[in-house]
Amino acid sequence: MAKDVRQLVLRVGLYSLAAAGLYFLGFYLPHQARAPQVPKPTVVTMTQADSRYWMERFPDQTASYLRTAEMAPTVAGGSVPYQKLTKYPFMRTMYHGFGFWFDFRESRGHMFAIEDTLISGRGKTGGVCWGCKSADYPALVARYGQREFDTMFWSEAAGKTTHPVSCIDCHDPQSETFALRLTRPWLEEAIVAQGRQVSDFDMRSLTCAQCHSEYYFRGAGTENKIIFPWSVGFRAEDALAHYNNINFSDWVHPRTDAGVLKVQHPEFEFFQGSVHQRFGLSCADCHLPRVTNTAGRTYTSHWLTSPLNHMEASCQRCHTDLAATRSRVETIQTDLRTQANQVGNDLATAINALRDVRRNPAADSTIVAEAQKLHREAQFMLDWFLVENSTGFHNAAEGRRVIEAAQQLTTRMMETTRRVVR
Ligand code: HEC
Ligand code: HEC
Ligand code: HEC
Ligand code: HEC
Repeated sequence: MAKDVRQLVLRVGLYSLAAAGLYFLGFYLPHQARAPQVPKPTVVTMTQADSRYWMERFPDQTASYLRTAEMAPTVAGGSVPYQKLTKYPFMRTMYHGFGFWFDFRESRGHMFAIEDTLISGRGKTGGVCWGCKSADYPALVARYGQREFDTMFWSEAAGKTTHPVSCIDCHDPQSETFALRLTRPWLEEAIVAQGRQVSDFDMRSLTCAQCHSEYYFRGAGTENKIIFPWSVGFRAEDALAHYNNINFSDWVHPRTDAGVLKVQHPEFEFFQGSVHQRFGLSCADCHLPRVTNTAGRTYTSHWLTSPLNHMEASCQRCHTDLAATRSRVETIQTDLRTQANQVGNDLATAINALRDVRRNPAADSTIVAEAQKLHREAQFMLDWFLVENSTGFHNAAEGRRVIEAAQQLTTRMMETTRRVVR
């Protein structure tokens, strides 16, 4: 009996050991090989869309750009991809029924743009998704046609994109000076829709606005055309007015039945009219500062990250006390985040309250419709702040104004919901 047990224990032990070995060979090792390091391509596959292609000609710019593969947290932002839905549970109520409901992670640097799209748990629209992730996109559009590539199955298009956002997305590789250029048609189209032209803006911000702007897809499935909702202006209310004018919703909220919208990273819009923008600064002033290499030559640092990681280069020429400046930034961010969370919790309560009263057969449909409209508006204003990636810093006054507006709309939504059943 004791011998049997001993034999059994021995056998189980051996099996476990074998299983661990297989796991190591079959799972752990390949995953190690696929760790998010910059992959090393062979010389044959290296094209101009690969950042490393430019290493020889622009060593400092390229080496600094490759640092976007680093990950580090800051108080409010940074590039560690934590799950926002866990940190801010009210977002699960806000985004119910939409892709962001089950996956909304903090963003990382440009070198991760493709990988993070592949691992995102959200549904994908089509080839167009690669428009803001891959430096291969313009060439693929030239080859297959805008509409054809934008409506191509996402997975089929994924097989054709290998290079994340890179030099040629912002620079003309044919020009002698490596001049700045725009490669995404939707930006100029949006500027023209405002009755303005590209030269009215600074290229040192426009190169970023190609992707760091709010957008939607026109003709989902048949056209998938990216449009920036700028026809009325750059503020949150202006974007909402644009959507109201064309009667557009991203989805119908399953709890309130309201047509709602999902905002995405309106960094360029939010920055307009800020203290720093009025002072003449562009995105590049803080995110691509001039620095000096070991040989004493100055170059443009391309480490696109939180500028709090390099304040000497980005802020010191105007703010001499860096510790005080950092704490000013963090105070703005913490205050605004606290206010926004408060509104988010109130909005979640209002959404659930509207869900409950709608079940009542005595519900007054006119008042329900009024509450649904307020849900759409309150959620849009709050989301504008939540998904702008500077946690309010880019325009603190605007951040306060937008959150305040969201609070008022949420209060009105709650009051209206109380009137649904008398
Ligand atoms: C005055 C300096 C300044 C200017 C100008 C500026 N930014 Fe920022 N940006 C910051 C700071 C500071 C943060 C906050 C970083 C943090 O929370 O760690 C930030 C955050 C960001 C983030 C998120 C980074 C992260 O770590 O999560 C993005 C993306 C970004 N900015 C893009 C832009 C774009 C696009 C523009 C131009 C429209 C712009 N910025 C203009 C200073 C600036
Ligand atoms: C997201 C847009 C963007 C990407 C990607 C980008 N750059 Fe730039 N680059 C800029 C901006 C903006 C400037 C600043 C131009 C100015 O100040 O007038 C700049 C400046 C430069 C300059 C001229 C200033 C200097 O440092 O001598 C060079 C050269 C350069 N970049 C090379 C590169 C290389 C190489 C890559 C890829 C490894 C790259 N850039 C990726 C936007 C970008
Ligand atoms: C072709 C599209 C594209 C262009 C152009 C572009 N970005 Fe980005 N940027 C992205 C994407 C996509 C991400 C998120 C990548 C991820 O999470 O994997 C990102 C991430 C970032 C981040 C890091 C955010 C974080 O949380 O760590 C910063 C900072 C940033 N971009 C700044 C800029 C600035 C400044 C410019 C203009 C000089 C610019 N970007 C131009 C697409 C673009
Ligand atoms: C070209 C000059 C310049 C640069 C560069 C600059 N700032 Fe400013 N900043 C200003 C001016 C001017 C003001 C308005 C006066 C004030 O509040 O100090 C300001 C205001 C601020 C404020 C208060 C904003 C508000 O809305 O209350 C913060 C915080 C700040 N800057 C942080 C930064 C950080 C961080 C950087 C670098 C990433 C930076 N600044 C780069 C000029 C600059």
